[in-house]
Amino acid sequence: MQNFNYMTPTRLIFGKGVVSQLPEVMSAFGKKILLTYGGGSIKKIGLYDKVKELLKDWEIVELSGIQPNPKYDPSVLEGVRLCKEHDIDVILAVGGGSVLDCSKAIAAGAKYDGDPWDLISYKVKAHAALPIVDIITLAATGSEYDAGGVISRTETNDKIGYIDPLLYPAVSFLDPTYTFTVSKKQTAAGCADAMNHIMEQYFCEDSTLLNDGFMEAALKSLMVNTVKCLKNPEDYTARAEMMLTCTYGCNGIYSLGSSQSGWPCHGMEHALSAYYDITHGEGLAIITPRWMKHILSEKTVSRFVKYGVNVFGIDPALDDFEIAERAIKATYDFFESIGIPMHLREVGIDESRIGEMAHHVAENEGLEEAWAPLLEKDIAEIFTESL
Ligand code: NZQ
Ligand code: ZN
Repeated sequence: MQNFNYMTPTRLIFGKGVVSQLPEVMSAFGKKILLTYGGGSIKKIGLYDKVKELLKDWEIVELSGIQPNPKYDPSVLEGVRLCKEHDIDVILAVGGGSVLDCSKAIAAGAKYDGDPWDLISYKVKAHAALPIVDIITLAATGSEYDAGGVISRTETNDKIGYIDPLLYPAVSFLDPTYTFTVSKKQTAAGCADAMNHIMEQYFCEDSTLLNDGFMEAALKSLMVNTVKCLKNPEDYTARAEMMLTCTYGCNGIYSLGSSQSGWPCHGMEHALSAYYDITHGEGLAIITPRWMKHILSEKTVSRFVKYGVNVFGIDPALDDFEIAERAIKATYDFFESIGIPMHLREVGIDESRIGEMAHHVAENEGLEEAWAPLLEKDIAEIFTESL
């Protein structure tokens, strides 16, 4: 087991109706709030009105229109400008992972005098950030319980995971009823994203029985509950379990004491979203089984055997490589069964920029250090196999 140094300072407030505690929570952070949200879903589900009513005694400045794959320009820059201009005390992010991620970058940028890109690109280390409270409305990223935010910069085709302990939300509200309206497409993409967060931690050199069991159970829970959510979007129990399983995704709890894998599928997917603005979870679902096939070897096969037997119930008496092949097919078939387009061409990506994207990933994501190292040519092959 590896050494670790772990703390998640975020307070989770979970369940039906918990948002009524918002005034009590916000009163600890001051009077001036930057309320951030996306393209309008929070208005359709009545959450915007609810928040405004609960916080009628606060001074609220709004930043709306934060897009999926949140953009540095205009959203982060505009949010930082508003925080400085209005001397904001706290950010309240209401929406999916994109809204929260954008708010994290704003929180750090608001306390920095230079160009916020200096922080996101790790040129400068942040010394402070505004506190963040969030109401998450989509089960997927785990941003509500982690210190990261992923920001896209269109003109340079960058999509960077900006991670700093200063960016943990202070408080996250999770009310599964607000996820009832999430579309089938986003429900399935959220499942694929959360499953991949687990796989990125599962497929590594050195794990523990505890971590493996926790992750195998989480993968099974995500698959079972996603199917239930797709069938009945208002199945509270299924939405609730899905939400909590997603929440653990990226805060390290699934892999305490395990070695690092290098998060290869995320490294590759970030290029797809950056160049083509596709839905993150769909990009991951497409890449994952191709990546698995590509890295399957004498060195990696034992992890696939464990995954295949414990997650998909494949007969352990079979040959190791047979189990691994079946596990990879089962992964592909599950994503396909929940309605995810399983080819890059279906999401508008052809071969024309594969070389450029593979080069960008190889230069920026450090995947030659991954558990199963990937060079530029491997990345290009995985993209090509995904077409
Ligand atoms: O913009 P609005 O109108 O709010 O609509 C959103 C958006 O169109 C909609 N939506 C959200 N909640 C809804 C809803 N529609 C109906 N009912 C609701 N309750 O869903 C669409 C997608 O929203 P988005 O926030 O983009 O989705 P998600 O939560 O999957 O976030 C994806 C982003 O998170 C990053 C991804 O790279 C991507 O940019 N990630 C962040 C991570 C982190 N911070 O730890 C880890 C992940 O690996 C991921 O990379
Ligand atoms: Zn992800």
